[in-house]
Amino acid sequence: MKTRKAKGRSGAQLLQDFGADFPKIESPAKQERAKRLFAERPARGRMVPQAGWAPSWPPVAQYRMTSDQAPVLWPFVAAPGMKPHGAQMGMDWDSRAAFYFDPVGWVLDETMPVNNPNVWIFGSPGRGKSALVKAIIIRMAYFGVRSLIVGDVKDEYEALCRFFGVEPIAIGQGLANRINPLELGPLMVGWESLPTQEQVARCNTVFARWLTLLRGMVGSQKIGRSPVPFGPVEEHAVDYTLKQLTGVADGASMMRPTTITQLWRALDEPSPELIGQLRYSGKQQFIDETRLLRDALGSMVTGALGGLFDQETTIKLDWNAPIVSLSLSRLEGLGEEATGMALLCLNSWARAMREASATGDLRIVVRDECWKQMRLGVDAVKSFDADLRLSRRDGDIQIAIGHKPSDLVSVGDAGSQEAAIAKDLLHLADTKVLLGQDAQVADELEQMLGLGEIARNTVTGWARQERGRALWIVGERMFRVQTILHWLELNLAWTQGALAGAL
Ligand SMILES: Nc1ncnc2c1ncn2[C@@H]1O[C@H](COP(=O)(O)OP(=O)(O)OP(=O)(O)O)[C@@H](O)[C@H]1O
Ligand SMILES: [Mg+2]
Repeated sequence: MKTRKAKGRSGAQLLQDFGADFPKIESPAKQERAKRLFAERPARGRMVPQAGWAPSWPPVAQYRMTSDQAPVLWPFVAAPGMKPHGAQMGMDWDSRAAFYFDPVGWVLDETMPVNNPNVWIFGSPGRGKSALVKAIIIRMAYFGVRSLIVGDVKDEYEALCRFFGVEPIAIGQGLANRINPLELGPLMVGWESLPTQEQVARCNTVFARWLTLLRGMVGSQKIGRSPVPFGPVEEHAVDYTLKQLTGVADGASMMRPTTITQLWRALDEPSPELIGQLRYSGKQQFIDETRLLRDALGSMVTGALGGLFDQETTIKLDWNAPIVSLSLSRLEGLGEEATGMALLCLNSWARAMREASATGDLRIVVRDECWKQMRLGVDAVKSFDADLRLSRRDGDIQIAIGHKPSDLVSVGDAGSQEAAIAKDLLHLADTKVLLGQDAQVADELEQMLGLGEIARNTVTGWARQERGRALWIVGERMFRVQTILHWLELNLAWTQGALAGAL
């Protein structure tokens, strides 16, 4: 086939015919090619010894799904979770980012689903619960957060106190240290200069605290299986007597300090006014009908704990020290009930010391082995409940340690009031740290904490594979965190001395 040849002039010729030229574009100068920093490698590596050559492709499975479907299959894969404020507590296992602990900061942060700074730590015996708390105390101390150990029942925080240069305070028979749980506390400081309204409000706070303590103390003593009653009559008798003893009933300008011994004696030798107040026909009727109350109070004075919590406080604590600890191991021989009562007294006293705490005086309050107190009965559980509820007001980070969530239910019979209140205590801590648990505990993790299958298996599987691993539940978010202790922290957390010594 014949092809048609193009005829006519080009555009350049056309312009030349009219005496003009096409503008010329300078060709760019030839550039030296920059030297490559990284040499390209084939995906399987170079086939040279020691060069990381792989004979086959890595078996990476590929999935395609939307971003709202992915977290269902991989719930722990998340962006670096915690904002970098507070103490660095370990590594977020999934994102490999640092994991920070700052419960007060979390409450203040609108984007965090956390409403209180309290923490529950659960883990099977020996998993490292106390060690984790010690690490928290040390690492938070750098941020000016002080700690208070209300009742170190195994004396395991003593080494930590000495590390901070603080001498722990031991309480026990034969020692000179006394604590008066009916202490007036810092609310009385500057009393004369307070307006009357404030004085009345503070008086009410002190009396409410005392009644909570005395109710717990009396109610934890048993007749058979029933607790000694502390009803309206007993409450009236105690309240009236305390007001007499402190001078509030006579309109004294300042409350006088009092003790459990004074209260017991005043009830044992009732004044005609007291008998009249309670509308008893005479002294004998008063004596007969308040016998249980008086005996229960008397046991604090003449019983196993006699002399420890029934006199004026003799210890002087330095509240500016980084840590304050009250050791209770000397009471071990007196039985669990005595330890529980001592914890109850210490808690009430510690609450008094924290009333009117200065703004910014952040403190970690540690309740290790708290079930010992809760086993005492419903009033002891209520007292603990009150402490957790007050943490937002006092600026305290309450850390409670238990073995497993069902410990809280076992403080009373199934369906009892104490079991119901104790179960609710779980909701008073928005942060929960679950160290390794045995597989038998899996069901209760699901029922009591609502953990799904993957989170449950994390606690009964992954967290048990190494010490320091835990599932941290912060609000509704979950993190797998590995805490690595510094050798100094390890030395302070070492609690295997007795076992090692037995070998
Ligand atoms: N992250 C960790 N890394 C290495 N060792 C650890 C870690 N955490 C704890 N340990 C060691 O494990 C042992 C037991 O720890 P710890 O006493 O804190 O356990 P616990 O759960 O409080 O036990 P218990 O239930 O008896 O109170 C300690 O000797 C401690 O040194
Ligand atoms: Mg422990």
